[in-house]
Amino acid sequence: MSKSINIRTQSHSYEVLIDEGLIKTYDFKWLVQGKQILIVKDSNVPIEILKDLEKSLNKSEVSEVFHIEIKTNERNKSFEGIMPIYALLNEKKFNRDSLIIGLGGGITTDMAGFVASSYLRGIDLIQIPTTLLAQVDAAIGGKTGINFSGSKNNIGAFYQPELVLMDTSSLESLPEKDFTAGLAEIIKHSLIADNNLFQRLENTFLNGNSLSEEELIQVIYESSLIKAFIVSNDEKEKGDRALLNFGHTYGHAFEGSQSLNGFSHGEAVGLGMICASNLSLLLGNISQEEYERIIALIKSVGLPFEIPKDFNVDEFMQAMSRDKKILSKKLRFITLKGIGRAEITENLEEDLILKSISL
Ligand SMILES: NC(=O)c1ccc[n+]([C@@H]2O[C@H](COP(=O)([O-])OP(=O)(O)OC[C@H]3O[C@@H](n4cnc5c(N)ncnc54)[C@H](O)[C@@H]3O)[C@@H](O)[C@H]2O)c1
Repeated sequence: MSKSINIRTQSHSYEVLIDEGLIKTYDFKWLVQGKQILIVKDSNVPIEILKDLEKSLNKSEVSEVFHIEIKTNERNKSFEGIMPIYALLNEKKFNRDSLIIGLGGGITTDMAGFVASSYLRGIDLIQIPTTLLAQVDAAIGGKTGINFSGSKNNIGAFYQPELVLMDTSSLESLPEKDFTAGLAEIIKHSLIADNNLFQRLENTFLNGNSLSEEELIQVIYESSLIKAFIVSNDEKEKGDRALLNFGHTYGHAFEGSQSLNGFSHGEAVGLGMICASNLSLLLGNISQEEYERIIALIKSVGLPFEIPKDFNVDEFMQAMSRDKKILSKKLRFITLKGIGRAEITENLEEDLILKSISL
């Protein structure tokens, strides 16, 4: 049975639906009837998924459906990358009553969302995330954006969609490393807000099992619920939304560090969560046993858990200081107060941060 979450932010409210086969079965009519639609498709999403979506839209009496395929890499998540989308909207005379659908991973939903937020000062948006990470993270909460001049996501807008459809069938073609990246975010959500979810993930992965379809839907639901709850209370990241950055300050530095090139976002976040947990241990906020349980779970899903030998600490500290999530000169990190509870910790000594990466 479909799981549903209602997201209410100050600016908007919308539904997130999670189920197997939603692209084929969802009745879009109430949202799309009589409208021009542009599907912004991730180039790696199988063509069959696009065809299924077009079929469902045509059944819903749309006026016209177009699609545009975009290459999914961080370099293309840029002004150059979104220009062809604006050009097509303009050429086909899309008006304020038209609608954009983002169909793909987080790069695609971020780009499609940003275009929707800015074309004619904002047209309707449906997000259909097709990676596990985009489902539990990128497509919820209304952050959209592109990269500019070497910085990530520094141009963008908060822009909420009308609907988010999470079809777990679309994950079947997803490469394993991308599935694992999504698991990293699910573990993060459990660590900052849900001890119960953490324990269930332990029961599955520490016993060498994987998630059944039903369990996957349930885990996506619970994980999305955590993000939805946090963003509903803090749409524009003035307070608790920062908790979602647990492990990410380290993660971004790992991603940016040359000696770790080749680390995916998910892998960098996995290792970042271990460092942030180590920091929590050094602060006396979690026990050694809790720390070891966190490492064991991260290890069991196939994420890296050791700092590579050629890791350059100076480079790392430099990358850290560039991270926009560290406010001014104060070292500000998200730390745990136990499994399932997180807080913002400020004014940390540089020495402690250095210790936290000595795993
Ligand atoms: N807006 C937000 O709040 C938010 C939150 C987290 C991450 N992000 C952004 O999301 C991006 C990362 O998202 P991601 O991990 O989904 O990466 P991604 O968009 O690069 O997708 C990962 C890979 O999977 C491919 N893919 C997508 N769906 C597929 C499918 N069904 N079958 C086969 N391949 C498929 C993509 O083409 C890509 O190669 C980053 O740019 C990050 O900045 C945004």
